[in-house]
Amino acid sequence: MAANAHPSGNERRPDRPTMSSARIAGGIVALLMLVSLAWLAFASMGPEALVEPTVSIEATGSPGAASGVVAADALRDRSRLLYDRTQSETVDGVNVATGGAPQADLTARQGVARSREIVEKWRAPGDVTAILRKPDMIRGTSSLPYENADILEQPEGRDWRRERNGAVAYGGGWLILGVLLALALFLFARGRIRIAEGPAGTTVERFDAAERANHWMTATAFVLLALTGLVILYGTPLLLPVIGPEAMGTLAQVSAWTHMASMVPFIVGVCIMIALWVRDNVPTRLDWNWLKAGGGFASEDSPNPPARRFNAGQKIVFWGVVIGGVSAFASGLILMFPFALFGYVGMQWAQLVHAAIGLLMIALIIGHIYIGTVGMQGAIDAMWSGQVDENWAKEHHSIWYDRITDGSRSTKRLSNSKSSRPSPAAGE
Ligand code: HEM
Repeated sequence: MAANAHPSGNERRPDRPTMSSARIAGGIVALLMLVSLAWLAFASMGPEALVEPTVSIEATGSPGAASGVVAADALRDRSRLLYDRTQSETVDGVNVATGGAPQADLTARQGVARSREIVEKWRAPGDVTAILRKPDMIRGTSSLPYENADILEQPEGRDWRRERNGAVAYGGGWLILGVLLALALFLFARGRIRIAEGPAGTTVERFDAAERANHWMTATAFVLLALTGLVILYGTPLLLPVIGPEAMGTLAQVSAWTHMASMVPFIVGVCIMIALWVRDNVPTRLDWNWLKAGGGFASEDSPNPPARRFNAGQKIVFWGVVIGGVSAFASGLILMFPFALFGYVGMQWAQLVHAAIGLLMIALIIGHIYIGTVGMQGAIDAMWSGQVDENWAKEHHSIWYDRITDGSRSTKRLSNSKSSRPSPAAGE
């Protein structure tokens, strides 16, 4: 890239006639995000395809297959029953649907007995779920030959579905695409945040092996949680039409189990992060000054505000991960053990809160990954090798740098030769 070709080795920007490839990439991603947001706006204005459920029943297997025939039989019986009841509804002025004319009533009872017999045969063993055994459930009747269809939906269920498929799903889309757009525009306008003095070639230790191992364990678990969570939330409207029901079924099942399993290393990692880093993340007055100065990120000429080991931006990430992680864990447990602690309304709230926290955390971590990789020269070294360039440390964490180089914290220096430090992020 252009910056690496600079004869001095220092990557100061001044008179670069061409736009860096990072900025071009930022521009392209920004355009893609604009198109995606326009599509999202269009989709959210359409009919409530995501909101209203559709219910259908299909005879499975080839024509003549046992299940299909039985299902079709049961449906025909039920339909005939309903037809008879409506036909005889006003016979002799008596409303038979509510227990009137003897002839119609008899037809109805026969029909019900026949349907029930068919349903009993048709139902798979163990098909009655725990929800059916709940004493507070409301059961009605339906024309479908399947017991679950007789459970009446509580009105809040419809509100919950509307929020989940509307506010949460679309809100999450706006949030994630919006954050990506903002970051891409920032990269386009500002380019990478470089080490102003250029790399010194000497390094100091920033994170030890335990800190790094724990960071990457938590990060891997979070990425799995995020991807599988997105499949759970958006799989049906976005992936099902593309990959079809069979692949979607497998993917959904794998996602649900991976999601629950990844929670364990994630929450363990968050607890270790608390133990390792909470002391360095206590907010101080310096943080306010750092925020007011925008971290010194606005332009290459902005002065870097002083910071200790973690600056205000990093503290926001830390507390977001801690508070979000613990809340996601708690609401996730409620969802994993349905009705153990709460009834229907509690479960519905747990689902909405869990999804909202997950989406907010994904947005936060996208910002974190950006600044740790493409956004800032030299940052990834901190978590990769554990060593950061001294000039990077002076510029972004001046107070911390002064303290560790005073000898109050063990420092590890490497060779003075610039070429001896293979740095994946040294160039652009
Ligand atoms: C997957 C890609 C990720 C990358 C490339 C990445 C990169 C980094 C880097 C470079 C640092 C050190 C910054 C410094 O020197 O001060 C860091 C710190 C940290 N990371 Fe990550 N990280 C990733 C994912 C995550 C995830 C998923 C979480 C938590 C859910 C997380 C939580 C943290 C925390 C709490 C810190 C300390 C505070 C901070 O520097 O913001 N990281 N990460």
